Amino acid sequence: MPDLASCTIAFYGVGAMGSAILAALVRGGHPADQVLAVDTSSERLRELAEAYAVRTTSDVAEAAGAADVHVVAVKPGDVPALLDAMAGGLGAGDLVVSVAAGVMSAAIEEHLPDAVAVARVMPNTPALVGQGMAVVSPGSRCGDEALALARSVLEPSGAVLSLPEKHLDAVTGVSGSGPAYAFYLAEAMTEGGVLMGLPRDVATTLTVQTLLGAATMLAEGEDSATILRERVSSPGGTTTAGLAVLDERATRAAVVAAVRAATERSAELGRAR
Ligand SMILES: NC(=O)c1ccc[n+]([C@@H]2O[C@H](COP(=O)([O-])OP(=O)(O)OC[C@H]3O[C@@H](n4cnc5c(N)ncnc54)[C@H](OP(=O)(O)O)[C@@H]3O)[C@@H](O)[C@H]2O)c1
Repeated sequence: MPDLASCTIAFYGVGAMGSAILAALVRGGHPADQVLAVDTSSERLRELAEAYAVRTTSDVAEAAGAADVHVVAVKPGDVPALLDAMAGGLGAGDLVVSVAAGVMSAAIEEHLPDAVAVARVMPNTPALVGQGMAVVSPGSRCGDEALALARSVLEPSGAVLSLPEKHLDAVTGVSGSGPAYAFYLAEAMTEGGVLMGLPRDVATTLTVQTLLGAATMLAEGEDSATILRERVSSPGGTTTAGLAVLDERATRAAVVAAVRAATERSAELGRAR
């Protein structure tokens, strides 16, 4: 497998997720003339060409023949027909990286020639701001070099881990759906501030910076969430009073159950495809 820098990368579907990964790749220095955006929407293609100077086409077969790495970022239901249109242009040395939720790598492999390597990815929306969390799982024909190449497509959009595909439903439950849990908490904290008399814009600023600061401490420091929480919870203090209410209302158990429900839903949707 070649290095990413020498590859032409085609993005099939440049909606929210495809365009986020494409944009990060180009901003990260990948030559724009080695990036091909493929979509049914000519308006989306025009926007991307203007914003990033990438090549564009609506011809899937042409893109499949021209690129080395193929990022599949259409809705899960559109994947089989897309793969069938790509298959004729693919062969040895090609890598297909799919971000389609719940579409198993084995199902993707069935549509493609045997020599094509397939990797499956669960990204998340903070990829839009270069702070994504992507987990890459190798398919049955994806060796170490192809896996490294798949990881390098995602690295400009944020953090990347590699895990066996059996973990991708749980990954969906934590990091795939996780941004929405954080937004939900942000909504609730802001609402609380407004209820206590703060102007909404002030409550929003306090909430956003607090979540950003707390996440940065977790990401950059050595201490676990438990230690950091204990450190700001002095006996009889304000934070302890607030946390006691979260405990009384079984918030921890509710979040654990939310991750479980999202994981199970991901598995259920995967079985239905
Ligand atoms: N958004 C997320 O947070 C997120 C997170 C994890 C995984 N994903 C996965 O990412 C994939 C894309 O999601 P999205 O939210 O980015 O969807 P989206 O915004 O709807 O983008 C998909 C794009 O692909 C185009 N398309 C459909 N069929 C095509 C074809 N045969 N050839 C070329 N382009 C085609 C669509 O055009 P039309 O509108 O004309 O159909 C649309 O512009 C999904 O499989 C999803 O499971 C998304």
